[in-house]
Amino acid sequence: MSETVIRTEGLTKVYPGDIRAVNGLDLDVKQGEIFGLLGPNGAGKTTTAGMLTTRVVPTSGRAWVGGVEVSEHPALVKQVIGVVPQSNTLDRSLDVRENLYFHGRFFGMGAKESRREADRLLEVFRLTERATAPVLALSGGMAQRLMVARAIMHRPSILFLDEPTAGLDPQSRLALWEILGDLHRDGQTILLTTHYMEEADQLCARIAIIDHGELLALDTPEALKKSVGADTVVTVSAHGDLEVLSEVLRTKVPGASSARCVENAVVLEVSGGGGVLPIVIATADAAGFTVTDLSIAEPTLETVFINLTGKDLRD
Ligand SMILES: Nc1ncnc2c1ncn2[C@@H]1O[C@H](COP(=O)(O)OP(=O)(O)O)[C@@H](O)[C@H]1O
Ligand SMILES: [Mg+2]
Repeated sequence: MSETVIRTEGLTKVYPGDIRAVNGLDLDVKQGEIFGLLGPNGAGKTTTAGMLTTRVVPTSGRAWVGGVEVSEHPALVKQVIGVVPQSNTLDRSLDVRENLYFHGRFFGMGAKESRREADRLLEVFRLTERATAPVLALSGGMAQRLMVARAIMHRPSILFLDEPTAGLDPQSRLALWEILGDLHRDGQTILLTTHYMEEADQLCARIAIIDHGELLALDTPEALKKSVGADTVVTVSAHGDLEVLSEVLRTKVPGASSARCVENAVVLEVSGGGGVLPIVIATADAAGFTVTDLSIAEPTLETVFINLTGKDLRD
């Protein structure tokens, strides 16, 4: 078993106004893994990342990062972490290379070493051609790559990324996934937050699903999807009372294990779902419903989230 590098015990944050953003969180992140905090907007992801990176003071509970208790030794923790926050925090008064160079200097690197490392990272992150550009001239994807480069400049043992691909175009998102994959192969421990289930599924060895500050499930993506207990998910749109349709489908479709209304559709989970679509249409039809849209898929982390909360992840 590899070493635990992040651990929390009952970690809790209550903001003024009795807003319980994070409630009794128990987590452990292993050396070298990509660990995901997956949850919708307002779930408490940024607050959790904030407490682990010394930016937010916990109301109660404890957290250890790299073996150091965060509240007791915030300055020590800052030395061993790299942070990519949710918003752009590049220094606009500096150009692209300088953002890296001065970060290295701030973390105690010598001038020569910092220059060399900055140039190396510009290469790795395909930013060399923009080295002397003002950061305001960067695209969203480039700015995000520079933020990651800066965060790993001082070789932190743990890299935190808060919603790193939110608002990025698909191509930039893929590019960032590749970068994170490369860092992982080099042994970098990564904790990332996201509300994109595909991102968590693709990248993370283990995922903590959170909502309303509560940990709902923690496991590998495969185990989480397996926990659904069905192999097929059918989403049905129809006119009429979907609560009624949902009950009809759950009781009449062979192999159906659950059905619920999510947004404006019925989500039906079925085991042994070969040939289920015509049965769904016929069953709905017999109950007086006209199906207007129908889709079939394997369980995803979205299905897991729906099962845990009764709602979907999308915002
Ligand atoms: N500084 C703050 N003061 C008061 N409430 C906050 C503050 N930051 C976040 N919250 C609230 O805490 C909850 C969790 O927020 P956050 O951690 O930002 O969630 P996420 O990053 O998952 O979207 C939300 O209800 C949010 O409105
Ligand atoms: Mg957030």
